[in-house]
Amino acid sequence: MQDDRVETIPQDGRRTVKSFVLRSSRLAPFQVEALERFTDRYSIKYQQKELDFQALFHNERPVFVEIGFGMGDAAYRIAQSKPEYNYLGIEVFLNGFAKLLHRVGSSEMPNLRLIRFDAVAVLESMIPDASIAGFHIFFPDPWPKKKHYKRRLIQAPFAQLLAKKLIEGGYVYCVTDWEPYAQQMLEVFETIPAFENPYGGYAPPVPWRPTTSFERKGLEKNHPVLEVWVRRVSEH
Ligand SMILES: C[S@@+](CC[C@H](N)C(=O)[O-])C[C@H]1O[C@@H](n2cnc3c(N)ncnc32)[C@H](O)[C@@H]1O
Repeated sequence: MQDDRVETIPQDGRRTVKSFVLRSSRLAPFQVEALERFTDRYSIKYQQKELDFQALFHNERPVFVEIGFGMGDAAYRIAQSKPEYNYLGIEVFLNGFAKLLHRVGSSEMPNLRLIRFDAVAVLESMIPDASIAGFHIFFPDPWPKKKHYKRRLIQAPFAQLLAKKLIEGGYVYCVTDWEPYAQQMLEVFETIPAFENPYGGYAPPVPWRPTTSFERKGLEKNHPVLEVWVRRVSEH
């Protein structure tokens, strides 16, 4: 059993509601090895200091962020198929982090870096305002019970934070198989003047998005796959 805790920071000295609950991970030897070999080169430690993307990727190409990449299939395949862009993957779950770190490190991917920390804190402290070309949030934890709704990631304060970090014309692309959550996403983005929904409702499927492991589980249960795509516009 590995220690699967990540540091989280209390705000104003108070514990805040998190969008995740950490589980213990049993790591395979290849994951342990990846953590030892590739952490320094391909992952970034949480810090209360803004990242310099040019220094990180050695270029000025657009940066896209995936939040909650799980086992990392989509993050890996998108970054691999679009070498002309830079990608940052954020995930708290050690098992998935170590798996993607293994893939990125062993293929020496130049355009994907990982952070293992709460995405809310990462966005607040490490991502400069108006610096991100797009956010990918695929199958965020649906928290279906009413008493857990407060844990859902896509709520107005977080959507405002996403808007602040996007460049004008940048996008947020969310996918879920939980219809009430998809509805909540549409409603939340609708309330924020910095976003426009070019589709007026759900978006058509995006051809370059690979199927994720949570999506497969949803499809086995005949859940619909619902896509929400909003664009950052000028508020003036
Ligand atoms: C339901 S899983 C989906 C994983 C993957 N995107 C997929 O489609 O297979 C949601 C993931 O988001 C991660 N997560 C939830 N809240 C997070 C946060 N605040 N920061 C980073 N990761 C988070 C969880 O650890 C979990 O792995």
